[in-house]
Parts: sequence; C-alpha cells; structure tokens
Amino acid sequence: MKKVITVLKGDGIGPEITNEALKVLDKICSVYNHEFTYKYVDIGGVSIDKYGVPITDEGMEQCKNCDSVLLGAVGGPKWDYVDPSIRPEKALLAVRHELGLFANLRPTKLFTQLSNASPLKETIVGGGIDLLIVRELTGGIYFGKRVTDTENGELFASDEMKYSYSEIERIGRVAFESAKKRRGKVSSVDKANVLDSSRLWRKVMHALSEEYPDVEYEDVLVDNTAMQLIRNPGRFDVIVTENMFGDILSDEASMLTGSIGMMPSASLSSGSLGMYEPIHGSAPDIAGQDIANPIGTILSAAMMLRYSFDMAAEADAIENAVNEVLDLSYRTVDIMQEGKTQVKCSEMGTLVADRIK
Ligand code: IPM
Ligand code: MN
Repeated sequence: MKKVITVLKGDGIGPEITNEALKVLDKICSVYNHEFTYKYVDIGGVSIDKYGVPITDEGMEQCKNCDSVLLGAVGGPKWDYVDPSIRPEKALLAVRHELGLFANLRPTKLFTQLSNASPLKETIVGGGIDLLIVRELTGGIYFGKRVTDTENGELFASDEMKYSYSEIERIGRVAFESAKKRRGKVSSVDKANVLDSSRLWRKVMHALSEEYPDVEYEDVLVDNTAMQLIRNPGRFDVIVTENMFGDILSDEASMLTGSIGMMPSASLSSGSLGMYEPIHGSAPDIAGQDIANPIGTILSAAMMLRYSFDMAAEADAIENAVNEVLDLSYRTVDIMQEGKTQVKCSEMGTLVADRIK
C-alpha cells in the first residue's frame, strides 16, 4: 500500500523520537512491501523561529491532505513568553481542530517487564494495568471563549467550558464501541456535582448507555477518579471524559506504567485521517542528548497503522518487537533498573526495527 504521512517533528526531543519511529516505519515498509512517503512540516517553536507562526498555512494544508500525521512534541522555555496567539501549543490545538480530531485515545498499559518501574506498590499495579482513556479533544475549555480584560480597575481572565449534546454523544460512542472490544466497562468522568457542562455530559452518557446494554456503565466524579486511579486502577477499563479532565488524568495514569515515555496516543476524526503522538512533551532538559525514550512515539506509529491504515498485522509486529526488546532487558534511562542494559534513544529505535521480520 502507498501512504503519505505528514511528519511534524517539533521541538525539544521531538526530532529524536520521531526519527526512531520513522526508522521502525521504514522497516515495516520493507518487510510488508508498503511505500510510505514522508512530508515534513515545521510545527511549534521551530516554526515560530523560522516563519513567525507556530504552523504556516501551507503546513496546515499538508496536514489536511495526507493519509495521517505523526507528531513528536511541541514547546519549550524559549517560547514561553511569546504572544499567546502564536504559542507553540496553538499549532497543536489548531491541527486538532482543523482536522476534526475529536477523539483522543490514550491506552495505558503496564508492560509486565516494567512492573516494578511504577512508583506505585506491586500490590496496586501487580494485577496488571490495562485501561483506555478516551479524551474529548476539540471542545470544552480548550476551545471556549477566552477573555482577559479589566473590571473594577483590576485585571481578570476567564475561560469558558462549553459542550453541545452532539459533541458529547460522538465521543461517548467512541468509548462504548471501544469498551465492546475490550472488557466491556465504561467509566464516564465528570464534575456533575458542580458544573452544568458536566450535568449535560452525564445526561448524554446515560442516554447512550441505554443503547449499549452489554456494556457496564458508571459515573465517577473527576476528583474521585484521580484518587481511584492510584488506589485501585484495575477497576477501570474505558474512561471517557472531557478535554481538560482527560489531559490531567492521562498524565496521572501514565505513572501507573512507570514512565510517561512509554505512552502512545491516537487522535481520530470521523474519517480515517488521524494524528499520532506520544503523550509526553518536548522535554527540553534532555533534548539533543540522544537519551529520550522513543517507545511512546514508536507505539504511536503502531496505532497509526492500526487505526488509519487498517494494518493490524503490521501494528502487532511493532508492538511485539517492543515487547521483545524489553524482554531482552534493553532500557532507556527513564526506565533503567539494576541489571538491565542502558541504551540511547537511537539504539532503542534500531533494536525495535531489527526485531521486525
Ligand atoms: C497533551 C498536551 C497538550 C494538551 C498541550 C501541549 C497543548 O499536554 O497532548 O496532553 O494539553 O492537550
Ligand atoms: Mn497533556
């Protein structure tokens, strides 16, 4: 198959980790006889430095006109004080919005090889962690009306959290459909004891759950979810929640697995076009040292094959290769433990690619 992939390497460790994912995709092409063409587009700080904007119009067009998008990471202290309208993160939000990527899937899986890499006790994570966070990605407070102004002689700022019925329904459907293919449970997370947007969220989810009698359903308040994730993560299968709650809970959940560097994500639209990126950021403190963990990005590339290209065998091959490399005791520094072999970012990519046969 021939596919065009738009590659947004971005800032910080973005280029390093993306290169390793491309190494793995190249290997997939040669083993499975596919042809992937990469179109490179600058995004984030690197684009601000070159063009004065975090993504150019041509860059955005390229993202819209391809088979899928692979992203490293954006942002860094260098651009912390640029005008908010051109912040690196703006480009990421714009791509999500322009491509209609409303469904962000963040699988949180504990690799058994890393069961003692989690900061949590074996008694908590020992039973295995395998949950899927379904985060709404193009609505809520990230995209509501923003105001900074003066009132009664002092500055104020506000951000609006708004959801329509249909926005909630379409993300809810993704969650219920995902649960059917997994362990059959949906936990819908909201703050319905305080927020109107959450009360609507709950109402829509309840209506949907009637359509899925075989899927177990529960409402969980977001603060309680934050606690339950640490106390008893095994109780969750699919968590569905609004944009900002999902942002926060997915970072928390990543710690169940030992390292945020291992976590992939897929941002999906109603068609086959998607964007795939690790959930971690640009980690400017370790950029350029070839020590970042590329596995989150490599597993994101696997999700691209599975969800956008319908290449399940190829996706399995990447996931199995990652498993084998972990079995062979190779570790990047973030997951390094006594008795294991520490490797660099580029070595990790090669190790994974070599195991795809
Ligand atoms: C994420 C990131 C982004 C978000 C930032 C970089 C805008 O934290 O993908 O989780 O908040 O969505
Ligand atoms: Mn985040």
